[in-house]
Amino acid sequence: MGGHAIDTFANPDFNIFHDAGTLIVICAKPSSPFVEADCWLAAENLMLAACAIGLGSCVIGSSVAALNLPEVKAELGIPAEFNAVAPLIVGVLSGETAATSRKEPLILSWKK
Ligand SMILES: Cc1cc2nc3c(=O)[nH]c(=O)nc-3n(C[C@H](O)[C@H](O)[C@H](O)COP(=O)(O)O)c2cc1C
Repeated sequence: MGGHAIDTFANPDFNIFHDAGTLIVICAKPSSPFVEADCWLAAENLMLAACAIGLGSCVIGSSVAALNLPEVKAELGIPAEFNAVAPLIVGVLSGETAATSRKEPLILSWKK
């Protein structure tokens, strides 16, 4: 973690969940090689559904390690045999968000 991130996390006023109204933690039992991919696909669907009804959402990957601490899992009611995989916040937008710039896709190979 870089210096800026450490400063941010050390600030007692910093809320890792950006003061959103709802945190959804998509969890999985580590039962197959693709189980985490399934969680992220579900997360994407959830974010698209939130957007469709005018809500904002954001993946909070920086919370995964903390969410998987035994005491945090116990507090949230996540059974020990499940892992927190994809945490998402969902909430009412506080304003318009400007579109960010996009990089061109990098096509590694194209065979006909
Ligand atoms: C895997 C993953 C983890 C992320 N973790 C965080 C996070 O911990 N905190 C945060 O504010 N945003 C997090 N984001 C959101 C990104 O910082 C960024 O806002 C989002 O991907 C939208 O990108 P865009 O600005 O290119 O549309 C995460 C995004 C992804 C895909």
